[in-house]
Amino acid sequence: MESDKTKAVGTSTAEATKTAVKKSTAGSRTTTSQNGMTGNSSGNRDYSQEATKEGALYKFFLDGLKDMYFAEKHILEALPKMKEAATTEDLQDAFEDHHLVTQKQVSRLEKVFKSIGESPEAKKCDAIIGIVKEGENIIKETEEGTMTRDAALIIAAQKVEHYEIASYGGLVALAETLQLDRAADLLHQTLEEEEETDLDLTDIAESSINFRAADEEDDEEEDEDDDMD
Ligand SMILES: [Fe+2]
Repeated sequence: MESDKTKAVGTSTAEATKTAVKKSTAGSRTTTSQNGMTGNSSGNRDYSQEATKEGALYKFFLDGLKDMYFAEKHILEALPKMKEAATTEDLQDAFEDHHLVTQKQVSRLEKVFKSIGESPEAKKCDAIIGIVKEGENIIKETEEGTMTRDAALIIAAQKVEHYEIASYGGLVALAETLQLDRAADLLHQTLEEEEETDLDLTDIAESSINFRAADEEDDEEEDEDDDMD
């Protein structure tokens, strides 16, 4: 069972995404007309593949895939550095596990490209570069071996997860709308993994690291008081 606290911290975006996906799924259920053309149960628009690939929405979807292909590879490079910088074994293990998951997500994205007849291609994503940079700054700005560093690293990692949750949530919804069913299924698997990682990070933070980081502050204050005596 998730605590209310956990939900408040980690799932607001995830819940919104699920709702958006549900809505999109409901709105794009396919029907096949007598002439064999696919259409949408909520209207008569034709979303057949040929028509789709010419459209601006498909191009936007494809761009989003390229963005995430770049982002996942960038995250793959960052995770070992975050693992090395982490103080606790719990957080080191979490970063290592997520490295394995991210490797699978890169391969899964390649399957998504293939499922729509496109070659995998990365497009520079400034957002993820910025978020990862923030994590690197945290390593520079916090003291090695402290709980404060772990508490801050978890928040940095969750910023990455929330960016991914928002991006994959949108891509799933677009894939559903464009009736790219295989792509939607694959992207949805990744979305669920990102949501799970986000919740795991919240658990690690709230079960001990945040409290131990707060104790660290108290210890420092006590040391300062002792010095003044
Ligand atoms: Fe990822």
